[in-house]
Amino acid sequence: MPGGKDKEELKQLDPDVLRSIIRERTHHTVEIFLYPAICGEGELSSGVGQQVRELLEVWRERDLPEDLADIQWSKDLLEAAEAVQEGKEPDLELIGPCPYDEEEMDVVDDLIFSRRSMRQFTDEDVGEEIIDKLLQAALWAPHACNLQSLRFLVLRTEEELSLINVDVSGYKTLIIAGQDSRIYEANPHVPEHNRLLDCGAAVQNIVLMAHALGLGACWGTFRPKQTKKVREYFDVPEYIDLVTCVALGWPDEKVVPPARVDTDEVLLNPVDDAN
Ligand SMILES: Cc1cc2nc3c(=O)[nH]c(=O)nc-3n(C[C@H](O)[C@H](O)[C@H](O)COP(=O)(O)O)c2cc1C
Repeated sequence: MPGGKDKEELKQLDPDVLRSIIRERTHHTVEIFLYPAICGEGELSSGVGQQVRELLEVWRERDLPEDLADIQWSKDLLEAAEAVQEGKEPDLELIGPCPYDEEEMDVVDDLIFSRRSMRQFTDEDVGEEIIDKLLQAALWAPHACNLQSLRFLVLRTEEELSLINVDVSGYKTLIIAGQDSRIYEANPHVPEHNRLLDCGAAVQNIVLMAHALGLGACWGTFRPKQTKKVREYFDVPEYIDLVTCVALGWPDEKVVPPARVDTDEVLLNPVDDAN
């Protein structure tokens, strides 16, 4: 059975963990073979998707919800793989990059080059809809093998915000990004060092979205032992690691961009079209 686990073990797994295995196996055993096959680069083997089929069977037998977007994604890719094997067009809405026009590029440049860490904030609160938008941005960041191990805490009241000191002050909301450690443990195909990178990518999306919304954001730092009060207050399970955070509020300052070094100072090898 997939992931080195037998059916009985899969039946006992926490649904979130089982779901992560379904995503990882879909990624590693279907997705990465399917798109080359659609482009005519290589054929799908007869066994493609077998592990995912077995996992989805366990999911069904356990009567777990079938209408979740990621479960549907796995089913769609399985169906598409079957279609390709039969020489048919897969029923997928495929997307890919398309260059932005000049005006759109101005927006992208502003987003990437004008975003700054903001550390002074007005008294105005950050609304719920905005927080939801920031979290959606976080979840759509790249994530190793689509494991989706991220979990978040949103601190907004004075009492909540007093639980942790993150070296920035006056912010109205603090999003703490954490991870369900069980998900990485249950997916040994995914290198462990990707774990923190997943969190970093998510927080980067939060700060970019915050900038686009006119919010001030500053990535913050805490050490694991500083999270004790937060963990107790929110009754955070021990298997959730609290990794990093971002302080947010409506900005009340303007700053000089901290200069960056030049690209040729960081490039370890020449990039030359003539080579
Ligand atoms: C992982 C990480 C931790 C950070 N921690 C803090 C922090 O504890 N306090 C703070 O004021 N800024 C913190 N920052 C923000 C950096 O100081 C800031 O990004 C850097 O000085 C460049 O400025 P810019 O974001 O305006 O480009 C952190 C940034 C990162 C990526």
